[in-house]
Amino acid sequence: MKGLILSGGHGTRLRPITHTSAKQLVPVANKPILFYGIEALRDAGIFDIGIIVGDTKEEIKKACGDGSRWEVKLTYIEQLKPLGLAHAVLTAQNFLQDSDFIMYLGDNVIKGGVKDFVEEFKHQKPTAQILLVKVPNPEQFGVAELSQQKVIRLVEKPKQPKSDLALVGVYLFNSAIFKAAKSIDYSQRGELEITDALQWLIDHGFDVRSHIIKGWWKDTGKLEDMLEANRMMCDELETKILGVVDEKSKIEFKVVIEKGAEIKNSIIRGPSIIGAHTKIIDSYVGPFTAISENCEIQGSEIEHSIVLEGSRISQIRNRISDSLIGKNVEIIGNERRIKNHQFMVGDSSRIELI
Ligand code: TTP
Repeated sequence: MKGLILSGGHGTRLRPITHTSAKQLVPVANKPILFYGIEALRDAGIFDIGIIVGDTKEEIKKACGDGSRWEVKLTYIEQLKPLGLAHAVLTAQNFLQDSDFIMYLGDNVIKGGVKDFVEEFKHQKPTAQILLVKVPNPEQFGVAELSQQKVIRLVEKPKQPKSDLALVGVYLFNSAIFKAAKSIDYSQRGELEITDALQWLIDHGFDVRSHIIKGWWKDTGKLEDMLEANRMMCDELETKILGVVDEKSKIEFKVVIEKGAEIKNSIIRGPSIIGAHTKIIDSYVGPFTAISENCEIQGSEIEHSIVLEGSRISQIRNRISDSLIGKNVEIIGNERRIKNHQFMVGDSSRIELI
């Protein structure tokens, strides 16, 4: 079985971060989201993996390389325009040939991986198998209607959902999917939709099955979901202090402090992670916060946030929370207290609060 990870797309819902970087490389708990996907496939015994790339292809290639770090073989497949998930499947046909494959959306994180799901597919050999999760708000997702384990209908964002089972961004297919993807039309939003391709398979009598996952899953396409994925993955951390913590600092609960990091006169409350060579001085870093490498937090308070590499936050007297701060950003304050700050700041920005 081969793997296909989708890492093209526009990422409009995560602008301005995605103006300059791939959303699949935003780190949660200081590890790029895409790496969780590669690891999930590898752990399910899938070593031959194609990665669909778009405008951000160079950045993704640079971050993942040839895959030898994970002992997998990565092949990059360029999709000239993000014309939908079924279009991505067609773009990868040369790579996939007639092999069965798992398709994994590169901005999704699934706790517990996909091994069980892959085993079930290998055993039952349906044409397609989708992954479903119970959600409280199915009207915001693609929703599946089932009869036993068989999928009988898929509806994209239904106004009156017939079930609470939402589609998770992981699918298993045999090569019949190519015929389905070639037979459907572009949707109103101008994409070849994978739900339409699956519905085509169902309507033509193919066996489309489902697997309901019990664990946690997140599509990190939006800020709040990215922060939730960060919370979930920070919570998995075990304390590891490789950097230097001075006597005036306090480390509470599960905290990772990477090599070369320095903590001076500060409180770090876990679960949280401080990247390599980052300095935290006279500050409070609260729970569920991931600060990447080579950052500096000075005289400030931050929690429930992600800060990307090379950024500097200084003298922000009111707490920063629920924020995603890009690479090489500077946020500089002064001594005066302002109320509260929430930021979604793109790479290389500078904000002065005066
Ligand atoms: P989406 O999040 O559905 O789409 P998007 O990345 O364009 O984001 P937005 O809606 O905010 O503009 O895509 C899910 C995953 O699939 C994501 O990792 C990008 C990838 N993708 C492709 O590789 N090719 C495509 O044609 C599309 C639509 C998505």
